[in-house]
Amino acid sequence: MPAVPTHAPSASLTHRLCVAPMLDWTDRHCRYFHRLLAPSACLYSEMITTGALLHGQPARQLAFSPAEKPVALQLGGSDPEALAACARLGEQWGYDEINLNVGCPSDRVQQGRFGACLMKEPGLVADCLRAMNEAVHVPVTIKTRIGVDDMESYEYLRDFVQQCQHAGCSTLILHARKAWLNGLSPKQNRTVPPLKYDYAYRLKADFPQLEVVLNGGIDSVAAASGHLQQTDGVMIGRAAWNNPWLLAELQNALFPDGPPAPALRDEVLEYYGRYCQEQLARGTPLNWLIRPILGLYHGLPGNRLWKNHLVSQAPRRPDDVTILDEARQLIPIAPGTV
Ligand SMILES: Cc1cc2nc3c(=O)[nH]c(=O)nc-3n(C[C@H](O)[C@H](O)[C@H](O)COP(=O)(O)O)c2cc1C
Repeated sequence: MPAVPTHAPSASLTHRLCVAPMLDWTDRHCRYFHRLLAPSACLYSEMITTGALLHGQPARQLAFSPAEKPVALQLGGSDPEALAACARLGEQWGYDEINLNVGCPSDRVQQGRFGACLMKEPGLVADCLRAMNEAVHVPVTIKTRIGVDDMESYEYLRDFVQQCQHAGCSTLILHARKAWLNGLSPKQNRTVPPLKYDYAYRLKADFPQLEVVLNGGIDSVAAASGHLQQTDGVMIGRAAWNNPWLLAELQNALFPDGPPAPALRDEVLEYYGRYCQEQLARGTPLNWLIRPILGLYHGLPGNRLWKNHLVSQAPRRPDDVTILDEARQLIPIAPGTV
């Protein structure tokens, strides 16, 4: 069994700006890229289920670069003992926070009795949080919805959150729409139920000690800054994937006294190119490494050509990092200026 690396705990874990856990998207390469854009953001792993972790290969699932820190491990599960064991593993591997997923509505997840359907079992969620908290020293947090199916009253959410808080959870990430457990796909469950930001604002007013991080549909600096008037943090999901440069803008706007974001997308590309070279030497396929950067020039002329070049060339030239520079040349803006 490979040795567990010991990354020092992060000195600066803040939830003011978070990048959402996204299965198949926010892997370690994506997080490395996001870290280049937003030095102060808290980054989340994809959800890993307790079953996959306890019976899988923790080295493959948990390894990450210290440059990604602070980074949170998101777990899916509903067995307190298994969650405690996985939380311990996460802490050993150097994660700065362990997060429990109580928001995923997929059928597979429901069959395993975890994710969003756990909102119907607040007692069990509290047991899980308590067991995780007892197992680790790093913070244990929860990411949840405002409700499921017909359980969508503010009062239900408030009581649910109160039980989480009593179980030692001091940070709550709220995807501010409910989930329909039957009839909608996970994708539809991210668009169809309406966003109700006021639930998050009310929670913050009712639980002033609780750190409330708002998630769902936040795609601009103005929107993030507005929500931060009433919440402690914002979590960005799809917008960070579609338009990663937003993270750099958020870094500068939300942390005026913090480390600045890189001034140019081209700088980020240069750093990431070096990272790709290191990763290629370790056998990571290039067509996997390019995925998080496809949106880097979002909204600029030549954006489509940039993307097409990367997507078409990476599978054909799997160890040739020069395709990044070639693709950049298709953006009709002088290199080193954007
Ligand atoms: C491709 C994809 C995968 C996702 N995987 C997860 C996940 O593993 N865990 C989780 O809590 N949420 C997951 N989500 C939901 C996001 O974390 C977030 O709550 C949701 O996209 C709403 O935020 P947004 O409007 O900023 O995208 C996923 C979303 C997407 C688009």
